[in-house]
Amino acid sequence: MVFDYIDGAAGQETGAMRNRAALDEITLRPRILRDVSARSLRTTLFGKTAERPFGIAPMGMCNLSGPGADLHFARLAARYSIPVGVSTVASTPLERMIEMAEGNAWFQLYFSGDGAGSFKLVNRARAAGYETLVLTVDVPEVGRRPRELRHGFKMPFRIGPRQFVDFALHPRWSLSTLLNGKPQMANFEMEGYDFDRTESRAKADWSTLARLRDAWPGNLVVKGVLDSEDAVALKKAGVDAIQVSSHGARQLESAPAPIKALPAIRNAVGEDFPLFYDSGLRSGEDALKALLSGANFVFFGRVFQFAIAAAGKEGLDRIWEVLTDEMSIAMAQTGLMELQPTEPALSG
Ligand SMILES: Cc1cc2nc3c(=O)[nH]c(=O)nc-3n(C[C@H](O)[C@H](O)[C@H](O)COP(=O)(O)O)c2cc1C
Repeated sequence: MVFDYIDGAAGQETGAMRNRAALDEITLRPRILRDVSARSLRTTLFGKTAERPFGIAPMGMCNLSGPGADLHFARLAARYSIPVGVSTVASTPLERMIEMAEGNAWFQLYFSGDGAGSFKLVNRARAAGYETLVLTVDVPEVGRRPRELRHGFKMPFRIGPRQFVDFALHPRWSLSTLLNGKPQMANFEMEGYDFDRTESRAKADWSTLARLRDAWPGNLVVKGVLDSEDAVALKKAGVDAIQVSSHGARQLESAPAPIKALPAIRNAVGEDFPLFYDSGLRSGEDALKALLSGANFVFFGRVFQFAIAAAGKEGLDRIWEVLTDEMSIAMAQTGLMELQPTEPALSG
């Protein structure tokens, strides 16, 4: 059930396949005989140095993949000065996340119901020291994911007979996870905070965004954008960055492949506007393709959870090394020393 929650996508999952095919279709331009011995993966993000051009996407209930997953993410973010996204429905309280990430945490907000609760969370994030707020806008209603529905997956987590059998068949997961305490939506354990994952988020509109812009003096990122017209309107509305994303194909099955939407959005918002990308990235080479397609920074989601599920903190450290090596090697093979090439680096 947990694997299907993490791995699953909307509908028949054709959106996920479409983006995978689009990523595979992009080719890089191999270049030769350029001294590429001094490569750097360092980049600048909101005026600060990040040691990698990739970070950790916000994901709800990460601790389902393994005990302490959220905190492993936070420590990794601190070590490399890269952002870890802290979901509204994270399994560790937002205050603890930013402390463990030594400031390298971005709070991700879902606007739900009439918004009163969402604005309370915004104030809490500000009080905790968050400088960057990520408003996710691609979930006006939660997408139907058949793999979750089949298992009766619910948040907050409920253990009925069906789930009990599933857990009994997976003793390693059950013992380690359930003995560490059933993962909770930790931001809502405090008095006065309530969240229903299935509650409609459909009421949010452009005036909501304007209110949020007024209420948030820090960096405001809008995540889940696939349309150039929307991107231009967001830029006009004063947001600081846009994250091109299909939520890892977990929402609208028929959405265009986000990796294909990225160059058009880059064109629409101009060269200098900060654009981020996530969805479907599975390797350092994939991430390089997204950077060369117009993103200034990218995020991985599921791969980090798979790594934790496979081998805990060691798994996460290992995937980090693998992604780093893959990107660095691909840069060497394409004649790149750094990540802002002055000539086209995609071929075709
Ligand atoms: C298990 C899971 C939970 C997620 N929860 C959230 C969330 O709470 N908020 C959010 O903005 N995005 C959420 N996302 C989407 C990710 O932030 C990101 O867009 C996506 O995972 C990127 O695609 P990838 O997994 O193919 O790398 C979630 C994704 C997964 C896989």
